[in-house]
Amino acid sequence: MTRKRVLSGIQPTHDSFHLGNYLGAVKQWVELQKEHDAFYCVVDLHALTVETDPALLRKRTLVSAAQLIALGVDPDKCTLFLQSHIAEHNQLGWIMECLTGFGEASRMTQFKDKSQKSGSDRTVVGLFTYPMLQAADILLYQADLVPVGEDQRQHIELTRDLAGRFNSRYGATFQIPEAYIMKAGAKINDLQDPTSKMSKSAASMQGVIEIMDSPEINAKKIKSSMTDTGREVRFDEKEKPGISNLLTIHSSLSGRSISELENEFEGKGYGDFKSAVAEVVVDYLAPIRTRTLELLADESALVEILRVGAAKARVVASETLVKTYKNLGIVT
Ligand code: TRP
Repeated sequence: MTRKRVLSGIQPTHDSFHLGNYLGAVKQWVELQKEHDAFYCVVDLHALTVETDPALLRKRTLVSAAQLIALGVDPDKCTLFLQSHIAEHNQLGWIMECLTGFGEASRMTQFKDKSQKSGSDRTVVGLFTYPMLQAADILLYQADLVPVGEDQRQHIELTRDLAGRFNSRYGATFQIPEAYIMKAGAKINDLQDPTSKMSKSAASMQGVIEIMDSPEINAKKIKSSMTDTGREVRFDEKEKPGISNLLTIHSSLSGRSISELENEFEGKGYGDFKSAVAEVVVDYLAPIRTRTLELLADESALVEILRVGAAKARVVASETLVKTYKNLGIVT
């Protein structure tokens, strides 16, 4: 009757999560912790692949952990920790690097995209070995399921290949994990460019709802969101991408169905509808922001929560590493 093991990670690369992160990822983490043995980590070592001011990295790491807790990731129900607190990630990462072909790593599309954007002199080697560290994150905990977005599918495939390769060369050591691709159910788009995904890489932040923004700013962003011609509040992604996106946002946060909302706003204009969406978003996010700020106000208590999580994580990680070393013939 053992519960399935889940592991996922999120990078502390921003000052705030946005609504797309929450509805796409964190909300599922919260669901999964109920019936699974879940391990969630803030992958601060992965964030080092982009040069960041130390004070900013520290701040972003803490704000990420605090937001996860405020959003419902419960340190009593799951194991919440910082990747850097467990040295075994680096140790197993090296083993994974020694198992990965150069060509195989060169085929990772995320590496290709990111390195193309910055040019080879500015691309660090850590970006190339990033997927092997990610494989270590997963395999150390013998995870069955890895909840991730579609963009991470290839990294999970690599992780599965590496686990299988290791097991067949050196004997059964790792659980072969499966990607749990998070349902695109709540696909949230940019408020100003409603045919593109809500993302921090957007040209302007006007279309991105950030959890740590003030309620006033978020209400304003919704009210000035781009809408479509016509004035009917109706879900039609092709003809009305702006209104459809707002309907999705309302429905995901209020739990009411799209058709119920269409009925409620029948005969009313876009203005009324936008005000209602703004209210739902603000009512939902304001307490989460307040809770995050409270957690950040007592930094030592927050760090203590993460240390307790790390102590739980270390038990599993060290057991896997010892087994890995033994099977490799490393004298332990
Ligand atoms: N690469 C993932 C992302 O950018 C983050 C990540 C690092 C991760 N390690 C992980 C996700 C382990 C799942 C499991 O989203």
